[in-house]
Amino acid sequence: MDVYTRLLRPLFFSLDAEEAHELVMSALEAGSRMPSLIRLMAGTTVTHAPRNVAGIEFPNPVGLAAGMDKNGVALQAWEALGFGFIEVGTITALAQPGNPKPRLFRYPDKQALINRLGFNNEGVEAVATRLEGLHTSGRWPRIPVGLNIGKSKVIPAAEAAGDYLASFKRLHGLGDYFVINVSSPNTPGLRDLQSTEALGRIIRTLRDWEGTPRRPLFVKVAPDLAEEDLVAIVQLAEAEQLTGLIATNTTLDHSCIPPKLDQTGGLSGAPLRARSLSALEIIRRQTALPVIACGGVSDAESAGERFTAGADLLQVYTAFIYQGPALLRKLAQEKPQDR
Ligand SMILES: Cc1cc2nc3c(=O)[nH]c(=O)nc-3n(C[C@H](O)[C@H](O)[C@H](O)COP(=O)(O)O)c2cc1C
Repeated sequence: MDVYTRLLRPLFFSLDAEEAHELVMSALEAGSRMPSLIRLMAGTTVTHAPRNVAGIEFPNPVGLAAGMDKNGVALQAWEALGFGFIEVGTITALAQPGNPKPRLFRYPDKQALINRLGFNNEGVEAVATRLEGLHTSGRWPRIPVGLNIGKSKVIPAAEAAGDYLASFKRLHGLGDYFVINVSSPNTPGLRDLQSTEALGRIIRTLRDWEGTPRRPLFVKVAPDLAEEDLVAIVQLAEAEQLTGLIATNTTLDHSCIPPKLDQTGGLSGAPLRARSLSALEIIRRQTALPVIACGGVSDAESAGERFTAGADLLQVYTAFIYQGPALLRKLAQEKPQDR
């Protein structure tokens, strides 16, 4: 057993899940100033499996999914741990506290989490200022950084496009790719923005403002969409010249959790594996656009099946909580297929 599973995980798991998260983030924020120390402590073996997706050079195809580093405080630490890319966010135009605590729950026997954080983040101004500081001080990581944006809770759905635009504008020069997140279950009405009408309006609003050249722009989808709705999003993505898709966010299917332990929120981790794979397969049958696969990737087999199904890149979150940096060593052996 490695240091993480033997020492650190028992310590973290003795704490409330969100307290543990905050402790880890503070340590990694501090560690971001000493990346070589992190490399040493984590025993990072750098995986060179370079891959060009959407015109971006990825040193390896395994990234950190959105939601872990919502405010972009530990970018150099993620690089030092061996991730091939990082997705910061979800960032909203307005700073917001998220839902009342407790709002993050572990299910170790299922290797799963349920969260209803509700886009707690410092807001676009604070995050953009931090990212600008990293650029100007030469502390920007050498791996690609995606910026994931969502709707501010207090903004009505009818004004969503303008709210996404406010974040996109402020962040535009700061990230390698952008993600429109319309698939979190924890902001009321957000998933309704996956309708082709609402999503089309958001994409066009961002693209019209942007003109050319365009930044790589992805949409992150829910695993709970009916096949026809997913197909409609893929057609929209092609029509609106979106760069690609991220499949998937968390699920509302909690059938694997005993009712008395269940919590409201999005379920992630091992039980999401089949659903996320199925969403990827549906998308891949429709399009050759880049797809970042996410959801229940936890070992070489679950990573390999995503690449076989046509994923260009992978993201992980929950399995990293359960396995720590050793997860990245396991996944490093798997490679995207040439398409
Ligand atoms: C605690 C937690 C917070 C999350 N926050 C976000 C978020 O802010 N934005 C987002 O797009 N996805 C968020 N996600 C979803 C993950 O990015 C990912 O899509 C999902 O957890 C499935 O991957 P996994 O099974 O590897 O965890 C969050 C997930 C968790 C567990």
